[in-house]
Amino acid sequence: MSSLNGVIALVTGGAGAIGCAIAVELARQGASVVIADQAEKEGLSAADKVRKVGGRGEFYQVDVAQGVQVQSCVEWALSITGSIDVLVNCAGVQVPGAVVEISEEEFDRSMKVNVGGTFLFCRNVIPIMVNKGGGSIVNISSSVGVMPERGTAAYCASKAAIVGLSRQMALDYARSNVRVNCLAPGWIDTPFNEPIIAAMGGSRELELLIRRTIPMGRQGTPQDVANAAVFLAGPYASLITGAVLSVDAGITAGIYA
Ligand SMILES: NC(=O)c1ccc[n+]([C@@H]2O[C@H](COP(=O)([O-])OP(=O)(O)OC[C@H]3O[C@@H](n4cnc5c(N)ncnc54)[C@H](O)[C@@H]3O)[C@@H](O)[C@H]2O)c1
Repeated sequence: MSSLNGVIALVTGGAGAIGCAIAVELARQGASVVIADQAEKEGLSAADKVRKVGGRGEFYQVDVAQGVQVQSCVEWALSITGSIDVLVNCAGVQVPGAVVEISEEEFDRSMKVNVGGTFLFCRNVIPIMVNKGGGSIVNISSSVGVMPERGTAAYCASKAAIVGLSRQMALDYARSNVRVNCLAPGWIDTPFNEPIIAAMGGSRELELLIRRTIPMGRQGTPQDVANAAVFLAGPYASLITGAVLSVDAGITAGIYA
């Protein structure tokens, strides 16, 4: 795996299961990491985990859906680190429900956090990367952003929009040496999926679904996603931009069941 010595990374959603694993793996490869999340206790603890593997770890409390807060967060990160070379947009929310089952507010919130948060951080960080001569952005979409599932209308729409926005930004900033890529994780074993698992009838139903429909027959771990994120963020992915990398045990390879 590549060395990220001297690299400064900002990870939104870094207090969560996948974001924290990404932050720690970036630090293991030598990066300093700023964690941006709304969850204070978990964010401070994630920054602690980053420091335990030897990296510089900082936490900033922010709602990624609020433009003024995002601008302050990026200004603060820049003031204490002097640079942002890698941006990982991992903060996300998920509301179960078909289109007629979710409220206008639930739809708006899904779009504002998942797509809007990605937009706001990119909007504030890209000029810093362009000024420095380059950078790397990894946006966390989902397998359902590529191949939608039943019963999660707002989430699928928001994750598909992240793919579209990422590929578009890859074009606009390719000549500035700013690479923009997406990760599309499948089922990853984190508390994020608890409402969906409850809606489908519990963990027994989940087990059956995994055996029936996931080609590799298992959920992923946050570490599986972190490994792929560090790859896309770092120099081994130097010619990769506008890509959507599936980290999904084969879910989007084709129909398995
Ligand atoms: N778990 C999965 O199966 C899975 C699969 C595909 C994609 N993903 C994506 O991976 C990302 C992380 O998921 P996870 O499983 O680690 O979930 P998680 O709930 O553990 O992490 C999500 C993090 O986002 C933060 N967050 C939510 N809204 C925010 C806001 N408005 N402002 C700031 N922070 C906010 C939360 O505080 C939390 O720390 C999400 O974007 C999710 O959509 C997860």
